[in-house]
Amino acid sequence: MPDPEQVKEEKNFYPDVPARAEPFFLKGANALDWGMQNRLARIFDPQTGKTVMLAIDHGYFQGPTTGLERVDVTILPLLPYADTLMCTRGILRAVIPPTFTRGVVLRASGGPSILKELSNEQIALDIEDAVRLNAAALAVQVFIGGEYETQTVHNMTRLADLGNCYGIATLAVTAVGREMVRDARYMRLACRICAELGATYVKTYYVSEDFETVTASCPVPIVIAGGKKLPELDALTMAYRAVQEGAAGVDMGRNIFQAESPVAMIQAVREVVHGGRKPEEAYDCYLTLKQEAEG
Ligand code: 5RP
Repeated sequence: MPDPEQVKEEKNFYPDVPARAEPFFLKGANALDWGMQNRLARIFDPQTGKTVMLAIDHGYFQGPTTGLERVDVTILPLLPYADTLMCTRGILRAVIPPTFTRGVVLRASGGPSILKELSNEQIALDIEDAVRLNAAALAVQVFIGGEYETQTVHNMTRLADLGNCYGIATLAVTAVGREMVRDARYMRLACRICAELGATYVKTYYVSEDFETVTASCPVPIVIAGGKKLPELDALTMAYRAVQEGAAGVDMGRNIFQAESPVAMIQAVREVVHGGRKPEEAYDCYLTLKQEAEG
């Protein structure tokens, strides 16, 4: 009820102040709906426009990967340093505390194990379950040039349609078959196809030559996978170069959780991605934090 005794009747409509119309901070994301942008802001840090995603979904096709045998023991201590966690719904429900409030990117494709043809994936998650789990994005492998190329592209387009209904982003993961050449030409092809067909952002591998042509020709953000375990300085150098050459961050797994000191490594990766620190400086941070962690 309005207060009849109210004395302050004067209103101010600020007619001279133009309405705010700030562009959204992520490449290719201006036309997305509020819910999708809000979820993306839980994946990418709005201050830096970048992300350190921690990828721990490897078990969905390769079982208990080294470093992930006990996610509760090895991964939970890393969560405070991850902008986003990429995992399966099984691990999320069984192990990850629901007090984790940052973005969760849910593995949404699967099927074959390492014993079979890897590209023969199907959609492995209902959109209702993704909503129930409050997912920020759904991750789906796309095997361009692979045996089941069309099927995996269709998995992605279907998930993008479902995600668009509910404001959940689609992360297309450009999966490279064992026999394929990983060069900029291939990555440009794969990333661009994923973006053209509806991916909100794309995960790909870093290539040391012409990576900037991969990021430049992809109209949505690109994050890089870490790939096989490298010496820590090499992994930091790869992350640094990728970001300098246009990547919006990393989605790193083994190079973090298989590091000698995972908790030090994820912080060093943050220094590179969010702080713009040179790899050698970040490696010094790694050594210092590792020493501290060892007491
Ligand atoms: C599986 C994935 C993994 O999440 C991805 O490979 C990231 O992990 P890593 O940095 O260990 O390569 O998408 O296909």
